[in-house]
Amino acid sequence: IAFIKYWGNQDNALRIPQNGSISMNLDGLLTRTTVTFRDDLNRDELELNGQAASDDARQRVSRILDLVRAQAGRQGYAQVTSANNFPTGAGIASSAAAFAALSLAASRAIGLNLDEKALSRLARRGSGSASRSVPTGFVEWFPGSTDEDSFAASFAPPDFWDLVDCIAVVESGHKPVGSSQGHTLAPTSPLQNRRVEDASRRLALCRQAILAHDFEAFASVVELDSNMMHGVMMTSTPPLFYWEPASVAVMKAIAAWRRNGIPVCYTLDAGPNVHAICLSSAAQMVQEKLSQIPGVQSVLRAVPGTGAHLERPGESVS
Ligand code: DP6
Repeated sequence: IAFIKYWGNQDNALRIPQNGSISMNLDGLLTRTTVTFRDDLNRDELELNGQAASDDARQRVSRILDLVRAQAGRQGYAQVTSANNFPTGAGIASSAAAFAALSLAASRAIGLNLDEKALSRLARRGSGSASRSVPTGFVEWFPGSTDEDSFAASFAPPDFWDLVDCIAVVESGHKPVGSSQGHTLAPTSPLQNRRVEDASRRLALCRQAILAHDFEAFASVVELDSNMMHGVMMTSTPPLFYWEPASVAVMKAIAAWRRNGIPVCYTLDAGPNVHAICLSSAAQMVQEKLSQIPGVQSVLRAVPGTGAHLERPGESVS
């Protein structure tokens, strides 16, 4: 989940973002991906959540496999099997988890042993936010200006701060306008330049708040940044409204709870589901209160997690 958001690219094809961003990996919300290069295939095959994937999804995966094949100097198609244990395409970062997992699995399957920076760069080509899902814990993506210098790195491990993300699911269906299309609309908003110009200030505030365990400072900048990104989305041509009435009800409730002393704040990605970020001491109460709000279908819960890793012991990326 992004605390300082990525929205808009300098280069859409390479996914070089206009501004840096900060996120936290989520433990327990997992994408599990298997890649097998096979001689008997005449194209790459993709199974997603137990079903043959659409051509668009398969081609997006093939583009990462092409990069991996080029780096390894090898040919051959792959069978890719991937499944999420959470809603796909609903603003819960499924593409971030998916392309981080795919980059690690595909590069190892073909015999490459990429370091963390190279993996983050590779994952970025599939989905920008995936660059941040490679390193562990709390992560910053340095925007850079070229393929070489746009990558993410961890600045604190998962156990550094006991935050909990309580995700109020108000809609679990696939969003109508995906992030990739959304990024291309960002420059049409008159607010985007101002958002980008101010990004380094917000990044510093967020990084410092995390490093100092200062929840009040963290909450202010996280909500501001989410609101600014949604402001850009709503003022694009055509406008993008990801919020549903229940999203707004949840945001208002969270703001009121914080005024009453509960350490919780909200952030939304490109979807209507609301991430309520709180201190672990408040998580049980926040989860119960969220589930009582009309329109909230369920509440998922996740703590800070590690980045992409292999399941076989001894081979995980550190
Ligand atoms: C709103 O990484 O999903 O979640 O690079 O086109 O795959 P693509 O976009 P994506 O964009 C994420 C947008 C966001 C904010 C964020 O995660 O920083």
